[in-house]
Amino acid sequence: MSRQTIALWGCGRIGRVTASLLIERGHRVPWLIDRDPAKSALLAQDLGQGRSCPASPEAQEHPEVDVVVDATGDATLLHYWNDVLKAQRASRVFFTRREPKADVRVMIGHAGDLPALPRGVTVDMGSCTGNALVPFISHLSRAFSPEELSCRVLHPLKQEKVLSLRSIETALENSLADWEPALADRTIAQSMELPVERGMALDLSVCFAQPVSKRSLESWIASLPTRCPQIQLSDAPPTSESIVGNPSSAVIDPGWRLVGNHLRLLLWQDNELGVSARIVDLLETLR
Ligand SMILES: NC(=O)c1ccc[n+]([C@@H]2O[C@H](COP(=O)([O-])OP(=O)(O)OC[C@H]3O[C@@H](n4cnc5c(N)ncnc54)[C@H](OP(=O)(O)O)[C@@H]3O)[C@@H](O)[C@H]2O)c1
Repeated sequence: MSRQTIALWGCGRIGRVTASLLIERGHRVPWLIDRDPAKSALLAQDLGQGRSCPASPEAQEHPEVDVVVDATGDATLLHYWNDVLKAQRASRVFFTRREPKADVRVMIGHAGDLPALPRGVTVDMGSCTGNALVPFISHLSRAFSPEELSCRVLHPLKQEKVLSLRSIETALENSLADWEPALADRTIAQSMELPVERGMALDLSVCFAQPVSKRSLESWIASLPTRCPQIQLSDAPPTSESIVGNPSSAVIDPGWRLVGNHLRLLLWQDNELGVSARIVDLLETLR
């Protein structure tokens, strides 16, 4: 495996988790950049490596690295990344989000082939919800015929510490449209924010074109991790706490139910670690 040198932009929730995982897996993160230098300095201190570096407005002055990980969520940085790539200060820029304007879209665990990743490109790594749902659905739709999907995302707190249950927006239908366009038109997705810090569940309901036998679904689910190692099965019902620290894209709750042609199941994910772990997977494919 080649060790990569990384500049991490955005030292918030995802940035912190991504930087720790990168270091744990043997990569170097010498540059930490945030709009708030106190955040990048604190992260450098916590990691015991890396330097807080001011965000330079000049692409030519960006530190020279193999990869930039953009965990800022700031879409206005796109032009800057194109300039950084043109100036050959980095060979690739990975977004910890779904970014429609990125050059390459990657969904690790999708049933199709991994796209080529030439130098000089920006890379969309998918959203947390897309990473949880799309691999599962892509494999499911190759084995059975889902006709309609409905999915409610149970997402932890985003910004404000609003300790209440509330309805929030989700781009999950867009993620499905990116990867499984034939199903996207037959999908309804909604999202609720729950008063928990971390750990997410997708409450998925699938209606198949024909009835499916419980035995065939059971054996398909049991063999899924051999085809898609980013998906894990759980023996015990997960909780938002027990899922934290699990790097899978999705953990299948054992309490799924099938009635006729209607399947109901929960997919769990550590929403902060899921995308970060996929970035590390992708780095390990780079030469
Ligand atoms: N949280 C999740 O569950 C989750 C899961 C998967 C993916 N994501 C995606 O990951 C990205 C980061 O999410 P997050 O939850 O980590 O957000 P966050 O906690 O708000 O962290 C983002 C950090 O980046 C900084 N930042 C913003 N724009 C910047 C810029 N132009 N230059 C330098 N620093 C900048 C922010 O500073 P300010 O606070 O000063 O703006 C903040 O410190 C988003 O795109 C999000 O959609 C989030």
